Amino acid sequence: MTWKLLASPSQNSSADACDSCSISGATCILRYVTATGGTALFVHPTAIVESGVVAGNGTAIWHHSHVRNGAVVGSGCTLGKNVFVDEDVVIGERVKIQNNVSVYRGVQLGDDVFIGPSAVFTNDLRPRATGGAWRLGSTRVHRGASVGANATIVCGIEIGECAMVGAGAVVTTSVLPHQLVTGNPARHHGWVCACGEVVSRAEEAPADPRCASCRPDADSGPEPGAHDQRIPMAKVVLGADAEDAVLSVLRSGHLASGAWVAELERSFARAHEAAHAVAVSSGTAALIAALRAHRIGPGDEVITAPLTFVATLNSIIEVGATARFADITEDLTLDPAALTALISARTKALMPVHLYGLPAAMREISDVARQHGLVIIEDAAQAHGARVAGEHVGSSGTAAFSLYATKNITCGEGGLVTTDDDEIAARLRLLRNHGMRERYDYSIPGSNYRLTDMQAAVAVTQLRKLPGILAARNRNAALLSAGLAGLPGLVLPKGPADRLHAWHQYTVQVTPDAPIDRAQLSKCLAAASIDSTVYYPRLVHDYPCFHDHPQVVHDATPRALCAVREVLSLPVHPALTADDIGRIVSCVREAF
Ligand SMILES: Cc1ncc(COP(=O)(O)O)c(C=O)c1O
Repeated sequence: MTWKLLASPSQNSSADACDSCSISGATCILRYVTATGGTALFVHPTAIVESGVVAGNGTAIWHHSHVRNGAVVGSGCTLGKNVFVDEDVVIGERVKIQNNVSVYRGVQLGDDVFIGPSAVFTNDLRPRATGGAWRLGSTRVHRGASVGANATIVCGIEIGECAMVGAGAVVTTSVLPHQLVTGNPARHHGWVCACGEVVSRAEEAPADPRCASCRPDADSGPEPGAHDQRIPMAKVVLGADAEDAVLSVLRSGHLASGAWVAELERSFARAHEAAHAVAVSSGTAALIAALRAHRIGPGDEVITAPLTFVATLNSIIEVGATARFADITEDLTLDPAALTALISARTKALMPVHLYGLPAAMREISDVARQHGLVIIEDAAQAHGARVAGEHVGSSGTAAFSLYATKNITCGEGGLVTTDDDEIAARLRLLRNHGMRERYDYSIPGSNYRLTDMQAAVAVTQLRKLPGILAARNRNAALLSAGLAGLPGLVLPKGPADRLHAWHQYTVQVTPDAPIDRAQLSKCLAAASIDSTVYYPRLVHDYPCFHDHPQVVHDATPRALCAVREVLSLPVHPALTADDIGRIVSCVREAF
């Protein structure tokens, strides 16, 4: 329940003293009333709470504290002695702020946050007493995080959900969810459970950040009926950090493209070692914008893979170009050796698809592109964080990523283009915003491919979790491969050693040498409440709408034609438990 200050101290009488005050023996000099008429906020007589403050039920504000106009303090909070809360600061529920802490403008504290005594938040990176403009840097401390005594938090960073900042630390960069940092400057020191127990000292985030006592009892076995639970192909898991981030956008009133989109672009470019990342409204928009940025249009041919989602083909058609198809290799990605035969004077671009998260043979494809002066636009919709020879996909050339709901990281709908070319990046920024340099100054015909700050806020929180997501998918894939090895006629997914798979899908091939066919295997899995999906049941251009399409050339791709009859994807997402994987493995083995 939210409480609102209705009267200034001078207008109150002792008759308005609230329950909490009388319990504590102090005298309440402010009156807070809810719509239902209750009172239960405690404000010590020496504290100052300016009018316009919104405070929650059960909150206590102790000696000499000062809460400024416009601040929002949730219910059940404790503001110790000499705590300063600046204008417009938002503090969540059950937050505990110890003595002598100043929470300046731009700081947001999520629910259940603990701020130790004398911790310091800065709010300008280069403060001066006089002259220079004061540039407010925002700081977010997410739900359940703790900041130790005397720690200093430099502005413009995020302290992730349940993270722990050691006493006296000077925190200069963002802290990941559940991460423990200490020292000056603060450095990684391990990972902590929500209860505060250290669960790991490793660099890599643990798959499960809970300590042994906070995990469901390992000895108690599966819950009754657990095996009847369906195992889905994908599961969207968004943390409280995503909720906090979206809430902050909603509260800011700035919903369109703004600071969160800029932050997403910065952090995505950094995470993929790319010079630029330009956020757009979908992976399809990313492909279209990338083609347009490279001035590919009518009369031009683009060679791509025939085993892909239809967005790859639709983007080529959308810009007016013609699609051609090269065959795939055993790893189901574009065969570099099949490209040369299709290249003519009309060919302008190659569009390899990093299918299921496995990067295509980019070094060999780049050689072909270089020899023939072609542009490469990578369809990396399924491959965030994948690498070739140690280098991130999208770190050179131009690549399109998707943030659709089932992707490895998501914000429902969204996309990004990465590029190492300043001019292409500038064109992408124009194209996505109606070609506008300034408002109503149109420099090229463009469109609306913009992403909103609400979506970007979710994507930023997801991106921080990408290393953990990739590690979990990789571990699940390894467990599936170990469990399914040796079955006759079942081809397991694998890529060359120098290509790091993002494991968007774990896709097996049920060949004619198997004792059952793909449909039978899928049926057995469905009977055991395990989802499986055929990505993709036909060649992308083998649909009536493309059969006589003037922008589609039906090149022969026999290996891809064979693959569409055999591929079957099994669940590999990070929310799978070891028990789930055991169920998948047993079911497939029994079916064989
Ligand atoms: C290979 C591939 N390319 C492009 C896209 C298009 O992305 P979006 O759905 O975000 O438009 C997808 C999405 O499913 C995809 O899998």
